[in-house]
Amino acid sequence: MTVNKRIVLSSDHAAIDLRQAVAAHVSANGWEVVDIGPTTPESTHYPLHGKAAAQAVASGDCQLGIVLCGTGQGIMMAANKVPGIRCGVCSDAFSARMIRQHNDANMLSIGARVVGEGQALDIVDAFLTAEFEGGRHATRVDMIEGNEA
Ligand code: RB5
Repeated sequence: MTVNKRIVLSSDHAAIDLRQAVAAHVSANGWEVVDIGPTTPESTHYPLHGKAAAQAVASGDCQLGIVLCGTGQGIMMAANKVPGIRCGVCSDAFSARMIRQHNDANMLSIGARVVGEGQALDIVDAFLTAEFEGGRHATRVDMIEGNEA
């Protein structure tokens, strides 16, 4: 169980409704949610929102982050450009569990045009309840970090 449970959420315009559903769900499960928007439906740019959420995690202000866009792909790419971020797109709970257990992912990305709300919440639960296994996986995660140098 995570002791200090603070999580940042962000999205682009394509995923506002799903982001708000995720925020309510995560909050109901005991997390302090830092929802950095956007809140209005105008078309916006996912790189901005992916970067802002990633910076909240990389700085240590939040332990984990969840970002969403239409496919989950663009905002994931933007988040992963911030040093220290390991963000994976997931459309299934197994992958969401594995990116925590094996890759020590600190951010999850979801495509609001790919999965429905029920599936998205299952994915979120899998991500938030799994723990990094360390060991040989830590060696590989260190190698990922080494690729940033
Ligand atoms: C916006 O139309 C869309 O391109 C965006 O939400 C996302 O799918 C990009 O990866």
